[in-house]
Amino acid sequence: MKVLPGTTGISIANQLTKITNDSLIKREITRFPDDELYIRIKEDITDENILIIQTTYPDENIIELFLLTHAAREAGAQQIILAIPYYGYSRQDKQFTPGEPISAKTLAQHLSLHADGIITIDPHKNHILNFFTIPAYQESVIPEIVEYLKLKKTTLLLAPDIGALERTQHAAKLINCDCDYLEKTRIDGKTIKIQPKILDVKGKNVAIIDDIISTGGTMATAIRELKKQGAAKVYATCAHGLFIADSIQKIQAAGCDMIIASDTIPNQFNVISSAPSILRALNHFK
Ligand code: R5P
Repeated sequence: MKVLPGTTGISIANQLTKITNDSLIKREITRFPDDELYIRIKEDITDENILIIQTTYPDENIIELFLLTHAAREAGAQQIILAIPYYGYSRQDKQFTPGEPISAKTLAQHLSLHADGIITIDPHKNHILNFFTIPAYQESVIPEIVEYLKLKKTTLLLAPDIGALERTQHAAKLINCDCDYLEKTRIDGKTIKIQPKILDVKGKNVAIIDDIISTGGTMATAIRELKKQGAAKVYATCAHGLFIADSIQKIQAAGCDMIIASDTIPNQFNVISSAPSILRALNHFK
């Protein structure tokens, strides 16, 4: 297998090839004067099995993934697997209101055009895998997050809402610690409300586990509640750190002791590598 990294996949590709000894494909990614993307694969990949690594966020990386995939197909690659560590648009996984697109679906259908398989990490909802018209699999960075949280002597895991409970319960089982959840109501894109609930957190190191941190509203509200109820340390943990606008300040101001994110989206909080989870997912194609 040869690995072709997109702009957002370079660090993951380096870690992955360190484990597998596979080689990175030389490629050029630049922009024309009008800012359109220019892509070129700079070596012979005829009949090779190719793994392209690229997150589909922000939007410009979607175009880059389309072009990388088509370039690999045109260059005669035999099998093209797309590893999409963070699958953007996964939250628009249905029509919430008539007239809307199913963004996760149309993106999946377009990405399926020139590829042979898809891997993604901790998708917001698993059913988005069915939108691809080629074999698609998901894996999770929870095992890696769990190892990290053990080092931080975490004794309680908290799901910020019922939707995150299954993921958090799975992590709690792996750490062998307690798990609880909050009841969150989303008022709008930026405002959420958490129902009052007495939690057994006094003196404990608590980690809140979510799939995505976006505006930071969910985390900040949960952290404030945990600190109010006497938690010793609170860690904000996610697979995908979007960290929109002032989210980081919001989370820190709420009393967060550490923000822990995987590297599916490159940012300053990438302490968890998603390379091992991508390798686990690749077993589906062996
Ligand atoms: C929602 O269902 C997700 O799992 C996250 O809780 C949400 O995306 C976090 O968003 P924010 O950081 O804007 O509160």
